[in-house]
Amino acid sequence: MTSSPNEPIKVGVLFSSSGVTAPIELSQQRATILAAEEINHAGGINGRELQLVFRDPASTPARYAALIEQLIVEEQIRVVVGCYMSSTRKAVIPIVERHNALLFYPTLYEGFEYSRNVIYTGAAPNQNSLPLADYMLGHFGSRVFMVGSDYIYPYESNRIMSDLVFERGGEKLEEIYLPLDAGWSSYLSVAKKIAAQAPDFVFSTVVGSGISHMYRAFAEAGLDPYKTPIASLTTSETEVAAMGAALGEGHITAATYFQSVSDPVNQRCLANYHQRFGSGVVTDMCWEAAYFQMHVLANAMRITGGDDTNALLKTLPGLELNAPQGRIRIDEHNHHTYLHPRIGRLNRHGQFDILSDSPGWTRADPFVISHSLVDEAESHGGPDEVRS
Ligand code: ACM
Repeated sequence: MTSSPNEPIKVGVLFSSSGVTAPIELSQQRATILAAEEINHAGGINGRELQLVFRDPASTPARYAALIEQLIVEEQIRVVVGCYMSSTRKAVIPIVERHNALLFYPTLYEGFEYSRNVIYTGAAPNQNSLPLADYMLGHFGSRVFMVGSDYIYPYESNRIMSDLVFERGGEKLEEIYLPLDAGWSSYLSVAKKIAAQAPDFVFSTVVGSGISHMYRAFAEAGLDPYKTPIASLTTSETEVAAMGAALGEGHITAATYFQSVSDPVNQRCLANYHQRFGSGVVTDMCWEAAYFQMHVLANAMRITGGDDTNALLKTLPGLELNAPQGRIRIDEHNHHTYLHPRIGRLNRHGQFDILSDSPGWTRADPFVISHSLVDEAESHGGPDEVRS
C-alpha cells in the first residue's frame, strides 16, 4: 500500500490500446490522463502526486484478470480505473473483491449487478435504455430489429429492451448476434435482412470495430436513417470519427453525455483536452465518465488522506461533482451514479444534435425496478436538480 506521506499514490489504468475496443478505451485512457494531470497540477492529493500505472489488456477478458491481479499484488495498487466490455468487468470483479481493492468502471452497461468493490460511473439501463425505448417507440414505431455483438452486454441489454418494447405494445422482428471480430460480409447479410423486414428502427448493441461495418452495411443495403434509424447505446463520437461522419448522419444514440453538451464545465474540459491531445480528438460518453470519476476519486482521496479501500468506500457514497454532463452524484446505496439521460441524432459533422435532454439528474436503478421514466423523475427530482 502507498502509505508514506510524500510518496506518489499509484492508480492502475486498465484500458486496451489494442484489440476490437481499442479506440473507445484509448479515449477513456486519454480522459484519465487529462484528469490526473489536472489533479496533479492543482497540488495532487494533499501534496502527493497521483501516478498512473498503465497495462494493455488487449480487449481480452483473461488478460484483464491477469493484469489487475498483477497491479494489485506486484504493484501494491489499491485503486484501478478501467474496463469497457462487460465481459472484462465480470472477469476482474472476483479478483478486486478477493483483494478488497476498488475498481472505477466508466462504461454504460446492462445493470443487474452490485459489488461492494466497484463504483459504476457509466449509465445503468434506466438512464439510457428506458429513454431510448420511449423515444423510438414514440417517434418511429413499434417494430424493432435487434443486432448485437456476441457477449454478455448485448444479450442482457436486448433482454431489457425487449421487455420495454413488449410493455409498450411493440414487436421484436429478429435478434441477431455476430462475433466481436465479424467482418464486412456478415454485417452486409444482416443489413440485407433488415432491408427485407423493413422494421421501424434497428436497436444495435454492436461494439468496437463492428460498429463501422454495421453502419456501412446499412448504407450499402440502401436503408435511409431518416426513415429507419439505427438506435444505439454504444455508438459514440469516437466510433463515428473512425468510420466517417457521413455513415453516421441521421442515426440515434441515447447517452448521458455528448460532446455537444453546452455546459460551461464541458466547454472548459474540451478546451483543456484539445490543448493537451490536439484539436482532432473527439470526446464521448465513456471519455466523460472516465474523466469525472478521476476527479471524484481525487476528492475522496483528499478527504481520506490516501487510497485505503475501506476509508474510500465510506467517503464515496453521496459525493457530488460538476461534471461535463452536469452535476453528478455517487449513489449512497448502490455504488452507481446519478446521471443526465439524453437522446442525440448524429449530424454531418459526426456530432450529436440533442433531441431530448432530461430536466435534472436521474438516479441509477441498476436492477430496473421501475420501467417508467415518469416514476424515476418523480421519485428522484429535487430542487438542485433542474438545469437550464
Ligand atoms: C459494455 O459491454 N458494457 C458496453
